[in-house]
Amino acid sequence: MGARPEVRPGGDLSRLAPAKVNLSLQILGRRPDGYHELESLIVFAAVGDFVTVKPGTELSLTLAGRFGEGLRAEPDNLVLRAARALDEAAQQSCPGGLPRGAAIRLHKELPVAAGLGGGSADAAATLVLLSQLWKLELGPDKLQDIALALGADVPVCLHGRSALVRGLGERIEEAPTLPPLWLVLVNPGLALPTPQVFAARQGPFSRPERWPQRIETAERLAKLLRGRSNDLEPAAATLAPVIPRMLEALASCDGCLLARMSGSGATGFGLFAQAGKAERAAGQIAAAYPQWWVVSSALAEQQRL
Ligand code: C5P
Repeated sequence: MGARPEVRPGGDLSRLAPAKVNLSLQILGRRPDGYHELESLIVFAAVGDFVTVKPGTELSLTLAGRFGEGLRAEPDNLVLRAARALDEAAQQSCPGGLPRGAAIRLHKELPVAAGLGGGSADAAATLVLLSQLWKLELGPDKLQDIALALGADVPVCLHGRSALVRGLGERIEEAPTLPPLWLVLVNPGLALPTPQVFAARQGPFSRPERWPQRIETAERLAKLLRGRSNDLEPAAATLAPVIPRMLEALASCDGCLLARMSGSGATGFGLFAQAGKAERAAGQIAAAYPQWWVVSSALAEQQRL
């Protein structure tokens, strides 16, 4: 379940909540309850939000970071919902006692409603950190159930490393072994609510794919991904016409093997085989579009090696 939380001076526990990137996102069908069956190759970048927890008598949340302000208007942050859901599950397994407290700090460095699963990663990090702070031993299956009830992307964020995700997001399988790769993430500064993008999707559904166990090079991965699209990209582009322009800007950079949208958008990613080219591309886009959010990053698990 990813790296162990880091213990900081004073007993605070903290953890990176990394950006989730859908290298592919195919929609296989629509269920009667309106949710969609998916197949998605998901990786995590080595950039993200930062969640810190420390003991507290009641639950509280402090927001900081570049995108912290944007969350202040939200009546019920997913981090607090995760904390309450965890406490309720703990109460059920061991009834009695007062609701548990914690002072949570969310340093928000990922854009909000951006297709990077930032809120889901924050919720997953909160579940891991509070399990440790509250000394709970609910077990991985129970934690995954709590995660799924919070949102379709939360289980894979709890899993914390590359995965092939199916179902609504709850079937998490081993991803093919991936080559070293670098991503340039670009967000044009507009929030795109996921339900709207799913609702705007049209056309036939995709078919499930067979994936190899190992993909040797970034070039080979890009070739494979060309046949496995992000099925939400056309719908998102009709809602936000800046998306094709942003993807063209990425695609035209030297060394960009593939430019595509992540999740329900609007963030786009460029796939690179070399760190230097990714960094140069990020610099070039940031200079041409100073109002856009741009970062270059290795995969989280590559950085841990
Ligand atoms: O689960 P989550 O709250 O992240 O989903 C947000 C919205 O995305 C849902 O309300 C639904 O409209 C859409 N969705 C879907 N099928 C999925 C995941 C999400 O239709 N598998």
